[in-house]
Amino acid sequence: MKGLALAAAALVATASAAIDPIVIKGNKFFYKTNGTQFFMYGVAYQQGVSTNTTQTEKIDYIDPLADKSSCTRDIKYLSMARTNTIRVYAIDPTKDHDDCMNALADAGIYVVADLSEPGTSINRDDAGWTTDLFARYTSVIDVMAKYDNTLGFFAGNEVSNAPNNTDASAFVKAAVRDSKAYIKSKNYREIGVGYATNDDADIRENLANFFDCGSREEAIDFWGYNIYSWCGDSSFQESGYDVRTKEFEKYDVPVFFAEYGCNSERPRKFTEVGALYGKQMTDVWSGGIVYMYFEEENKFGLVSVDGDSVKTLGDFSNLASQIAKVTPSGVKMNDFQPTNTAAAKCPDISEDWEAAGSPLPPVANADLCSCMMDTVSCVVKSDVKEEDYGDIFGFICGEKDGAYCAGINKNASTGEYGAYGMCKPSEQLGFVLDQYSRNVTGGCEFKGQAEQASTKSASGSCGTLLAQAGPQGQGTVTARPSGAAATGSKSPGAGAAVTVPQFNVGLFSLGIYVLGAAASGMAMILL
Ligand SMILES: *[C@@H]1O[C@H](CO)[C@@H](O)[C@H](O)[C@H]1NC(C)=O
Ligand SMILES: *[C@@H]1O[C@H](CO)[C@@H](O)[C@H](O)[C@H]1NC(C)=O
Ligand SMILES: *[C@@H]1O[C@H](CO)[C@@H](O)[C@H](O)[C@H]1NC(C)=O
Ligand SMILES: *[C@@H]1O[C@H](CO)[C@@H](O)[C@H](O)[C@H]1NC(C)=O
Ligand SMILES: *[C@@H]1O[C@H](CO)[C@@H](O)[C@H](O)[C@H]1NC(C)=O
Repeated sequence: MKGLALAAAALVATASAAIDPIVIKGNKFFYKTNGTQFFMYGVAYQQGVSTNTTQTEKIDYIDPLADKSSCTRDIKYLSMARTNTIRVYAIDPTKDHDDCMNALADAGIYVVADLSEPGTSINRDDAGWTTDLFARYTSVIDVMAKYDNTLGFFAGNEVSNAPNNTDASAFVKAAVRDSKAYIKSKNYREIGVGYATNDDADIRENLANFFDCGSREEAIDFWGYNIYSWCGDSSFQESGYDVRTKEFEKYDVPVFFAEYGCNSERPRKFTEVGALYGKQMTDVWSGGIVYMYFEEENKFGLVSVDGDSVKTLGDFSNLASQIAKVTPSGVKMNDFQPTNTAAAKCPDISEDWEAAGSPLPPVANADLCSCMMDTVSCVVKSDVKEEDYGDIFGFICGEKDGAYCAGINKNASTGEYGAYGMCKPSEQLGFVLDQYSRNVTGGCEFKGQAEQASTKSASGSCGTLLAQAGPQGQGTVTARPSGAAATGSKSPGAGAAVTVPQFNVGLFSLGIYVLGAAASGMAMILL
């Protein structure tokens, strides 16, 4: 049923609105058919989803591409500011996006979509790349890939923001890798997967290098830079744009501002537009995305919206007149022979950088988790609440220097990853309970919270997967998930707030799970 509906939707989408897809060659974007270089005149377009949140639970948000009347209301204003790209931060894959996407296509507007959503995103303080996240990411890819005006995806937004959470970037890069592989495996059009970084002086260069280093299959296809350093009447030098430009001179994939527009003085004058689309920058940068369309509490709006009515603000007219003045001269795709062809070098592990370039965290492969669950001899009872898992993890992983938990280990700085660290919390618990109870007589008890399970022996493809993972889960599984679309159609957010303890094998630290997700003031990276 679901497949049918999707196929029908795809037909409708192709039938209307012809827009030329954007392709990447070297460090530049081009219109596929006529080979004209594409410079992004972007506006962030989403209401009510703040990029600052401490939210750990799933929350409701407005999908900006699901309501025809609001899209059509806004497209004319976007067009007045020459907008050819919008950035959306969270969409609901269960909704229909045909009307908005087609209306945008008719207006020559492309979309860059973040793959996460509030509550289902990579948490900088407790990072992981999991089958639940994979299900969310691929569900967005599935609905957006059919539109020719989908320009690209962001696998994360400002996840690492300080040296002490740079380990999280390893998991985001695993998300990039798996999202790219998924697009390929589904034979979708080539759509790039990138990352939107913050402008933190301690880590910005390492971040750019880390995401671009290593094999092309693992690296980003483009780099988005959220930058607010041009405030008021600044200049190329004073804003630091000169140094940023120099830093990306040799970068081998497109870079653009994924958010810009400092609002310390309002109305914003947007004098940076002249620099961004001028001679000093256009060889390196492909334009940028102004933050943002809607006026909200954070005071970054170009317009204020009330029901059907849109009122343009000073920011809007200033942006529109600045954008109207620029005429970046690009190159033709056929004439362009990229000279930046080398990937960046992975940063070394240091006080300021905690993510090894290789290996990355394991492929989020739900098949492996379910194969494993078929073979475990001890499981947690279904009436045990997820928030109580922490105690059981804590006990088992505290035994024998964490040896029973090696299969769920996640250590980004050493690159030691257990094969099952990407499974759902209940599955990870199944794995460690099994490890423990196989070795300790009477070990499947836990005050009545665990019980014996009838095990099946692994055969066929499960046998292969489990053999690669190894008896203690320390092997490397290379296979990718077989499943057609995203696994597990039930809310991918379920269990997102449950924290599986992070520990060092050999040096178990109780820290995170004792805090518990519920009690935590842990900043969840929303987007
Ligand atoms: C190439 O196509 C784009 C979009 O279809 C259009 O905006 C642009 O003007 C075209 N370039 C030329 C040189 O015709
Ligand atoms: C982010 O949101 C939280 C919770 O609403 C708030 O306490 C905090 O001040 C905000 N931070 C910034 C930088 O706006
Ligand atoms: C991480 O570093 C930031 C400053 O860069 C600091 O405010 C924060 O407390 C540190 N977090 C931990 C868990 O050490
Ligand atoms: C559990 O028992 C197996 C078989 O005796 C052994 O190979 C394995 O090392 C034990 N695991 C731990 C963590 O001691
Ligand atoms: C990773 O392992 C190293 C070496 O054992 C250890 O120093 C570090 O604290 C570990 N990191 C995490 C996040 O567990």
